[in-house]
Amino acid sequence: MEQIVILDFGSQYTQVIARRIRECKVYCLIKPFNTPASEIAAMEPKGIILSGGPASVYAPNAPKPDPGIFNLKVPMLGICYGLQLLAESLGGKVEPGTRREYGKGTLRIQDAESPLFQSLEKEIQVWNSHGDKMTQLPAGFKTVAVTDNSDYAAVEDRQRGFYGLQFHPEVAHTPRGQQILSNFVHKICGCSDSWTMQAYRQMAIEQIRAQVGKEHVILGLSGGVDSSVAAVLLHEAIGDQLTCIFVNNGLLRANEGDSVRDLFCRNFKIKLHYEDATDIFLSRLAGVTEPEKKRMIIGNTFIEVFEEAQKKVGNAKFLAQGTLYPDVIESVPIAGNPASMIKSHHNVGGLPEKMKFELVEPFRCLFKDEVRELGKELGLSREVVWRQPFPGPGLAVRILGEITRDRLEILRNADSVVVEEMKRSEWYYKIWQSFAVLLPVRSVGVMGDERTYDYTIALRAVESRDGMTADWVKLPYDLLERISNRIINEVKGVNRVCLDISSKPPATIEWE
Ligand code: XMP
Repeated sequence: MEQIVILDFGSQYTQVIARRIRECKVYCLIKPFNTPASEIAAMEPKGIILSGGPASVYAPNAPKPDPGIFNLKVPMLGICYGLQLLAESLGGKVEPGTRREYGKGTLRIQDAESPLFQSLEKEIQVWNSHGDKMTQLPAGFKTVAVTDNSDYAAVEDRQRGFYGLQFHPEVAHTPRGQQILSNFVHKICGCSDSWTMQAYRQMAIEQIRAQVGKEHVILGLSGGVDSSVAAVLLHEAIGDQLTCIFVNNGLLRANEGDSVRDLFCRNFKIKLHYEDATDIFLSRLAGVTEPEKKRMIIGNTFIEVFEEAQKKVGNAKFLAQGTLYPDVIESVPIAGNPASMIKSHHNVGGLPEKMKFELVEPFRCLFKDEVRELGKELGLSREVVWRQPFPGPGLAVRILGEITRDRLEILRNADSVVVEEMKRSEWYYKIWQSFAVLLPVRSVGVMGDERTYDYTIALRAVESRDGMTADWVKLPYDLLERISNRIINEVKGVNRVCLDISSKPPATIEWE
């Protein structure tokens, strides 16, 4: 498969570059900045991209690539810090800018012949974020575009295949950036449109068959996007050699267990072991109010139940997991780069290593949006493919205080209203998450002639890219009104609905 290699110098946008290249239907991989040139050469890339990064090229411990990469005779695109590296490594000059250029700017393209700027207007909006700037071109280079603040906003040595951009083509604030990246991979590197989910489906099926042979595979199905798509893909590859295990922990949303059974057993005819462990989970959670303790009980019980279920299924050699590419990318610590230290605290694949399985991980090179695309390709519905994230501990993190069957019933009913109305108004598909939380607070109300003393539901709707930070969504008043009216009218035990208008940080998405 044709591929582009992206060397990561610690930019917060490195993964965005990779996603943009894949959107150009070209496969790419992110490698650490110091990957040896021989290793890169062995990958036979059609092109190399040097990412941006927080360092200064002349700082004492600035990350530098193996100089051998400049002799590989492979087209190269340097972005921001990457451009400065090109300049410095090939004999140009980089100096601290007199003022930091940050934010929007206008790029004026001076050389209409430049392959990087084909099919573009003469002036385009670009987004900058840099302090240093190039002050002298290396021999063989020329300027092809400028901004008010930079005479070297885009440079090239067409002969040798070196291209550099001072701005960030990968971000949304450079609206025509996708065309620039497409020009690089298609026109300059000569890539074809080989990376599609249709092609990947075939490739992955062959790989799974080759890895698994005649052995059996088990898959922990949660109903979430990744495990659902993995189940269907594996089933297509190995049919009845796959058994899915679905654990009902009693903390699922209304009808969730049934709809998983309907979809996977009846519709896709996938072998499914359904373990109803509601009683064990709820009895162990009885009387527990402390959030961390709830999580611990749920986590440990899940492992126990899954191990038992897996013994019942028997003789599987492989365990399939929906690990995604962002979890696999090696991150190299780069001085002064906080992005390299942030890691999700909820990475709970959670199954202990003593379970001696070999892993099948068909999404190890995919981004989340590609998994959704693949799901669509495999015939999964919009409901499944665009399902909002749902935490492993389920409704337990949305019931404050003790978890009882009564409280679960109240929350399930309120949650159903939220999901239904969010889907009906299409807002469900536009945002990261929307759900109800049951507060342990009761307050006075009136219903008809009667005085009530009932629970409060908090409504939470957030926008987010990855769950690490989030902002509350300004849902239209009429939608909020409908949700609130329906919950109070239809859900017995609730007489008040509040809206959570906190962002993360400092609040979290779930209340716990
Ligand atoms: P917080 O509440 O930490 O949540 O802001 C961030 C994102 O993670 C989800 N979440 C979980 N996902 N297992 C999961 O798989 C968990 O234990 C868990 N806890 C929170 C949460 O729904 C949000 O999308």
